[in-house]
Amino acid sequence: MDSILVTGNGALSGQIPIAGAKNACLTLMPATLLSEEPLTLTNAPRLSDIKTMTALLQSLGAEVSTLQDGQVIAMSSHDLTSHTADYEIVRKMRASNLVLGPLLARFGQAVVSLPGGCAIGARPMDLHTEGLEALGAEIELKDGYLHASAPRGLTGAVHEMRFASVGATENIVMAATLAKGTTVLKNAAREPEIVDLVECLRKMGAQISGEGTSTIEIQGVDLLHGATHQVVTDRIELGTYMLAPAICGGEVELLGGRLSLVGAFVEKLDAAGIEVEETAKGLKVRRRNGRVQAVDVTTEPFPGFPTDLQAQMMALLCTAEGTSVLEEKIFENRFMHAPELTRMGARIDVQGGTATVTGVDRLKGAPVMATDLRASVSLILAGLAAEGETVVSRVYHLDRGYEHVVQKLEGVGAKIERIKS
Ligand code: EPZ
Repeated sequence: MDSILVTGNGALSGQIPIAGAKNACLTLMPATLLSEEPLTLTNAPRLSDIKTMTALLQSLGAEVSTLQDGQVIAMSSHDLTSHTADYEIVRKMRASNLVLGPLLARFGQAVVSLPGGCAIGARPMDLHTEGLEALGAEIELKDGYLHASAPRGLTGAVHEMRFASVGATENIVMAATLAKGTTVLKNAAREPEIVDLVECLRKMGAQISGEGTSTIEIQGVDLLHGATHQVVTDRIELGTYMLAPAICGGEVELLGGRLSLVGAFVEKLDAAGIEVEETAKGLKVRRRNGRVQAVDVTTEPFPGFPTDLQAQMMALLCTAEGTSVLEEKIFENRFMHAPELTRMGARIDVQGGTATVTGVDRLKGAPVMATDLRASVSLILAGLAAEGETVVSRVYHLDRGYEHVVQKLEGVGAKIERIKS
């Protein structure tokens, strides 16, 4: 298993291009199942999770080809041969469950393996099934698989979600595009990835309004047609690299970044003493004079502070002046980076969903282990400003959500290399 060696190397400067969003692409790709006609995605990220979704769609009989060095994904599900998402693929990536809604809507049946346990939390699918049942689906759990059927098709309904789940919103919205009548989805998730999905579905002929708000209305249509859609910028990759100059000093411009994607995050950076300026090409980030200041953070659904930036923000606050309190409200087990940061000399006290971080002058390099995608990159960020060398092992976690990490950080002056093994 590869690892990454990072050596603290002082201030950074230059530009980092931000790729298309993993979490948008993972819901856009299953949308191809809604139509016989081809769907093409541009600005797609080159990540192992995208390869897994490709393998899943191909296992259903869809044609999926990647062009232009992987940044264009051309798909067609004209002749599907299966409606079963197999455990062997689903257990690798939970987002595989986003084929449930589209398969059910187009074919009236779907068999999708439950993903099973995840490092950051239980992550059940009850909000997905409740929503699809509200549209008339019959869903049964058998041998670890959800067997869903709607022999007479789905019917629009008014449904209020108990929690604004991203994945459940995506599955229900996709299913409702081909349902008879109108669906009103209340307490829907408002993430930019959902807005991007809806923009693509509208290009395919869907009739949807209210995306980005907590009430989405979908008028079902008989058929959807083909389209070409550009994947939105990855706000989590953006936020991650915005923290590099914040942690190390210097100034970095994030190409393709937009303030509207990272509002709540920028508010916290501002309070911590980090300047963010919008430029013609993206966002420019630099530290204001002096030391980073402690801030309190609570993760929430969009437009609140994203849980996917909590670990990276903790890395910044490890060397802040004062004590910060981080509350993780979305996932029940998302502080596994804390003991690894503690190995680098951080002072972190975790009590349930609350982590109290008392800033130290400087972290020290150490061998550390990645436990999940966002935890892995928080250890790399910490290593950029630590004294000496940090070796992050199990970086396969990182490859799921970050393309070209070493090249991108080296490009702004970081001392970083991948150690193959
Ligand atoms: C999406 O996961 C993202 N993944 C996650 O990013 C992200 O952390 C999460 O949204 C929250 O922003 C993708 O888009 C592929 P949820 P998702 O359904 O859809 C509970 C990353 O690092 N819940 O909004 O699975 C659930 O257990 C990943 O890129 C139910 O209880 O998130 C969790 O506590 C990690 N029942 C909370 O809701 C359900 O049926 C939020 O989950 C569904 C969810």
